[in-house]
Amino acid sequence: MSNQFSVTNPATGEVIKKVKIDAEEEIKQKLEMGHKAFKEWAKVNAHERSRLLQKWSDKVKENKQEIAEIMTKENGKPLHESLGEVNYATSYIDWYAEEAKRIYGRTIPANTESKRIIVSRQPVGLVAAITPWNFPAAMMTRKAAPALAAGCTFIVKPAAETPLTAIRIIELAHKAGIPEETVQYVNTHGSIAGDLFTQSEYVRKITFTGSTPVGKTLIQKSADSIQHVTMELGGHAPLIVAEDADLDFAVQQTIATKFRNAGQTCVCANRLIIHEHVAEEFAKKLAEEVEKLKVGNGMDEGTDIGPIINKKGYDKIVDQVKDAVEKGAEVLVGDQYHADDNKGFYFVYPTVLKNVDDRMKIMHEETFGPVAPMTTFRELEEAVEIANSTPYGLAAYFFTNDYRTGTYLHDHLDFGIIGWNDGGPSAAHAPFGGMKESGLGREGGIEGIEPYLETKYLSIGNI
Ligand code: SIN
Repeated sequence: MSNQFSVTNPATGEVIKKVKIDAEEEIKQKLEMGHKAFKEWAKVNAHERSRLLQKWSDKVKENKQEIAEIMTKENGKPLHESLGEVNYATSYIDWYAEEAKRIYGRTIPANTESKRIIVSRQPVGLVAAITPWNFPAAMMTRKAAPALAAGCTFIVKPAAETPLTAIRIIELAHKAGIPEETVQYVNTHGSIAGDLFTQSEYVRKITFTGSTPVGKTLIQKSADSIQHVTMELGGHAPLIVAEDADLDFAVQQTIATKFRNAGQTCVCANRLIIHEHVAEEFAKKLAEEVEKLKVGNGMDEGTDIGPIINKKGYDKIVDQVKDAVEKGAEVLVGDQYHADDNKGFYFVYPTVLKNVDDRMKIMHEETFGPVAPMTTFRELEEAVEIANSTPYGLAAYFFTNDYRTGTYLHDHLDFGIIGWNDGGPSAAHAPFGGMKESGLGREGGIEGIEPYLETKYLSIGNI
């Protein structure tokens, strides 16, 4: 087995950089270092931790252009999206720099005069994270920032496809004054990191963003040492357009959620469920707008849709579209590809499919690509049934200006994140996470620091 990862540009297939793979012994040493550093970092007062996090954020902002270019080269997303992701990544550091100062305990009235009851919070210990390639910056800071703010130490294994962004951001944490052992990275294969992290006596918490099957394995493996777990797993988001919706606005927001990062996001709309009275008009407007999206290298000005990360991702998308078309779906736009196995690049043109139904794979499997499949409904109950008929429960979207319809949909959709007339609900100040097989726990908002804290109850007697 090679001891290096070749990080390639998915737009060209060219190798950008080779990254050394850490040996198992080195990883174990880093875990031990992270554990030892915990004793010191947990003692640093909350205001100082906050100050260091703020300095880290400032350094990332100062280097925004450079980080965004690294990201576009290793991930493929358009440069304007990478710049946006650096902002998104620092928004988590900024938010948790503030939250560090708000880790409150409480007192509880006792049932006797001779007692006092105090509840305090303390950091869980060393946190080990495994982060995905689709948001190489923000998915790392969404975990690292609350961990460090809480007083935990942190070690991350970034995705093998996109380690360079995370490495650069962690270098900047050290430049900002956060000790090297307090925030570390390792480069290795996912399964090796999973085994070493879950078997380590030093790791107290595992946090993972990625696929549901890998998440399930990590939960099983972490059971032996009862590690805390936070899991951000797959999604299969429905997007419902009610009869009364503002169709132009719904189209614009559908494009924002569906085609961000070439559809390679866990929260992107994967099933468009449109009221039958407006389906024709919505489909026409959507197809017209989608046709305008420019496919290309993310470094080129004007690119809207970059490449698919790799052949495996590409093959899955092509297979889902083929399956849908064979079973009767109509292609309104797209179903076009530009790929070269020898060079190693894979582009999928943004695609809109109509007449999609339940027999098709695309209605059951996460696509992770720029394909928008449309089906219709008559009654709201039917839309909810289609939307909820999935083991996933991450994000759902609906468009309506009728408060009764909106309230009904909010109440009946089994998803952790709901966008009502909003195709972009993700934000550092709000809780992100899924129900059912989409995960455990929340990241972001005041909820996002909780998983990094233990609760300690003190009962003082004989007063
Ligand atoms: C994801 O796709 O996993 C994250 C996207 C987001 O934070 O909006």
